[in-house]
Amino acid sequence: MAMTPWWQRGAIYQVYPRSFADGNGDGVGDLPGLRAHLDHLSELHAEAVWLSPVFPSPMADFGYDVADYCDVDPLFGTLADLDQLIADCHGRGIRVVLDWVPNHSSDQHPWFVESRSGREHPRRDWYVWRDGAADGGPPNDWRSEFGAVGPAWNFDEGTAQWYLHSYTPQQPDLNWENPAVEAAMHDVVRFWLDRGVDGLRIDALQRLAKDPLLRSNAGSTRRHDQDWPTVHERLRAIRRVVDEYPDRMIVGEVYLLDVQRVVDHLSGGDQLHLAHNFVFLHLPWDAGAFRTVIEDFQRLAEPDAWPAWFLGNHDHSRIATRYDDGGHGPARARAVALLLTALRGTPFLYQGDELGLPDAVVPPDRVVDVDGRDPERAPLPWRPPSVAGPGAGFSTGEPWLPVVEDAEQLCVQRQAADPRSMLSLVRRLAALRAASPTLQSGGQQVLDAGPGVLAWLRTGDGERLLAAVNFAVEPRRLTGDALPGGECTVLLSTDPEWAPSSVAPRRSAVRDLTLQPSEAVLLRLPA
Ligand code: GLC
Repeated sequence: MAMTPWWQRGAIYQVYPRSFADGNGDGVGDLPGLRAHLDHLSELHAEAVWLSPVFPSPMADFGYDVADYCDVDPLFGTLADLDQLIADCHGRGIRVVLDWVPNHSSDQHPWFVESRSGREHPRRDWYVWRDGAADGGPPNDWRSEFGAVGPAWNFDEGTAQWYLHSYTPQQPDLNWENPAVEAAMHDVVRFWLDRGVDGLRIDALQRLAKDPLLRSNAGSTRRHDQDWPTVHERLRAIRRVVDEYPDRMIVGEVYLLDVQRVVDHLSGGDQLHLAHNFVFLHLPWDAGAFRTVIEDFQRLAEPDAWPAWFLGNHDHSRIATRYDDGGHGPARARAVALLLTALRGTPFLYQGDELGLPDAVVPPDRVVDVDGRDPERAPLPWRPPSVAGPGAGFSTGEPWLPVVEDAEQLCVQRQAADPRSMLSLVRRLAALRAASPTLQSGGQQVLDAGPGVLAWLRTGDGERLLAAVNFAVEPRRLTGDALPGGECTVLLSTDPEWAPSSVAPRRSAVRDLTLQPSEAVLLRLPA
């Protein structure tokens, strides 16, 4: 049997470097800080780490405005620190995935500085410049992704034309219609793959192709400012570059709320390896809704396409807060951990999800992000503030964003010492998956198990595992003809009370099993 590729085996852990660990006390996380905490990733059996951007940047969008694609911002360290991080990770069997931001650069990138210097400059056409509309306004009705920004166009006084920015005005869109831009961005990919990076996360992939006629969205049945059909040929060309190297992976941020359009980026085996599915991230806490998206992927994607599942990242309110609904957050976050680990596909974990962190409370005078994303970017609490000071072991200085209110209880050190904690649960789940070819690569079938319950079977070499999540706020018994009869062994439950007694695995009849509100279980069925 072929080896399961690394990017299918286990979790890919997202580090938001500004908020992971601060090595020099300036209040902002950095690469030396991260290197000093790699044990945490090993304990989570992370197959890979994905770093949000660490490249030189004026930080208008906290690194997603890149001023030099081939270096490291001094705030985070040096290129040598990054090389060392890659070596350290590889020494632990952890792959490294960098964030590649091909749709736009910083307005401080030399390419844009040249481009805006004059209409006749040879790099003018590296960005998207247009004359204004007849009424003197922007060239069309496109809007920035960030509501607070407004129109996606900025007027440049010097050359009296408008440039396109799908995000902030400090992030001008590169012109992918220009083959020289495409070639330059391919060289960036080669630069990092040559340095031993194992994969890239492609930022805002849906924006890489727009209507070349720049027609307005209004009055048309589809959007003209993203997801133009040419995205697929551009993606295939990127994949050809990646395939010049053995065993590398690309995962796309495909921010389209339509499963068919997401899986279109996985088809043919010559596009993405993995696609972030934002339909999944936006689901309400409802068993039927989750079932639909899981089955939609199975139904719509090609048989070889591999799912990626995630419910949190640096752009969205945290799982424990989003699904809290009057106090259910912590239990639901535990259930989510089991769900992501036991579904067929690659789980993505955003730093702090393993602690069940809620959003931090950010007072108005400390707000820094233009799009309201500070609460989910709060620094990771490592140690109790009562011992480590207000930086909670993240920093000896003042953290750039406040840490979560309950850092005392939620920090890594406290949770690591408590077998009932979320962190202990996530570690157990990761260990189970690491030891289970069935969880890593087995088949999958969703089963009817009664209202409010999502259940699915994983099958491998003579082994059958059943996972079930109770989405209801009351206890629910597993019911339904589809459920296998006979006895099962409870390998794990997300109920905190369950852990201490788990020395002798509980045996039970599958159909008699009652799940507590928000409880999830993993069961081994007789072969
Ligand atoms: C992606 C990133 C987000 C960033 C945007 C612009 O959505 O995840 O953080 O602001 O792209 O680069």
